[in-house]
Amino acid sequence: MQVDILITNIGELLPMDKKGPVRGKAMSELTVWHDAAIGIKNDQVVWIGSGDEAKVLEASNVMDAKGRLVTPGLVDPHTHLVFGGSREKEMALKQQGIPYLEILKQGGGILSTVRATQAASFEELLEKALFHLDRMAMHGITTVEAKSGYGLDHDTEMKQLRVVKEANEKHPLDIVSTFLGAHAIPEDYKNNPEAFLVYMSELFEPIREERLAEFVDIFTETGVFSVPQSRRYLMKAKEMGFGLKIHADEIDTLGGTELAVELGAVSGDHLAVTSDEGIEKLANSDTIGVILPGTSFYLGKDDYARARQMIDAGAAIAISTDFNPGSSVTENLQLIMSIAALKLRLSPEEIWHAVTVNAAHAIGRGEVAGSIAVGRKADIVLWDAPNYLYIPYHYGVNHANTVIKNGKVIFE
Ligand code: NIG
Ligand code: FE
Repeated sequence: MQVDILITNIGELLPMDKKGPVRGKAMSELTVWHDAAIGIKNDQVVWIGSGDEAKVLEASNVMDAKGRLVTPGLVDPHTHLVFGGSREKEMALKQQGIPYLEILKQGGGILSTVRATQAASFEELLEKALFHLDRMAMHGITTVEAKSGYGLDHDTEMKQLRVVKEANEKHPLDIVSTFLGAHAIPEDYKNNPEAFLVYMSELFEPIREERLAEFVDIFTETGVFSVPQSRRYLMKAKEMGFGLKIHADEIDTLGGTELAVELGAVSGDHLAVTSDEGIEKLANSDTIGVILPGTSFYLGKDDYARARQMIDAGAAIAISTDFNPGSSVTENLQLIMSIAALKLRLSPEEIWHAVTVNAAHAIGRGEVAGSIAVGRKADIVLWDAPNYLYIPYHYGVNHANTVIKNGKVIFE
């Protein structure tokens, strides 16, 4: 057989090819192959076998992995990729103990990024998004979800979504788009969140027509949108054919997790303060818990999602950076894997499921991303690490050695 790239001498290969989402105890059962080799032709994996068997292949390019760990490209299922400006000045406010929701109430936080995003041109936003995508790629991410939500008016929300579409066409990474018009309440609608949700829902039709987003998301939180408001808005989105996501139980326990389950959302995200009942419901549903421990860390909170209990109860969990300019400013999902180990007490085996196969399912890409298997697109990372335990262990730096997306080397 003739292949374009043959990766040989793989120390450990994690195929992550179980039919997912992988839930409960199964998250700690990891398949590891030693001395494996992978054949890639065009954009696909066409062959997987042992180093010995690989001798029958003819390859244009032989890539010696030199005993490295090889895994599927990471999937980041929750980011706020497109935004104007930055918020480094808020760090001092946080240090003074001013809560995140208080900064928002005073017109800062999300609303300050909204002003910067409204003021930015399409080209500026695109250039910035491509820069962040490059950073994600060099850290081993090959598929990413991206939300709007820094427009809060029709034109700017559409501008953000069109930037996502253009970035998806221009950049090798695959981007899955989510409409988060219901991310905060702008000044003009301060006393009328209901009317704001009606106004935002007017975009469902044009977004669907232009195929600008697959999912609709909402920030269900104190001072933002209540559970009944979120339910009405999301039901409308569901009727129009969108998949659903919720920023749920991030700061206050409102029951957003239960709402995600009730509405059959593909994911409930954050879940830092989900109730016992919410955990039970999540565990007995098809909704994936997308946990963002970097956000708890960055907001200096003691409330970390009870991911341990969620998995023990049988839930499927993914983890993500939540990359955004306010509550989690990092493109490095490897760092989040370390925080998940240290703060959520997830095992390395659970963490690898959470950033590959389960993360792919959390954005409707379970059949195409998050695994290495014959017939799949070749999204593969070679790591400067001898084994899979090593990535969460050695924290805060980039371990990606070579990143392959759709069969092409995009970082080395
Ligand atoms: O997921 N919680 C709401 N939205 C983002 C933060 C956005 C921001 O602070 O700019 C989050 O944490
Ligand atoms: Fe978020």
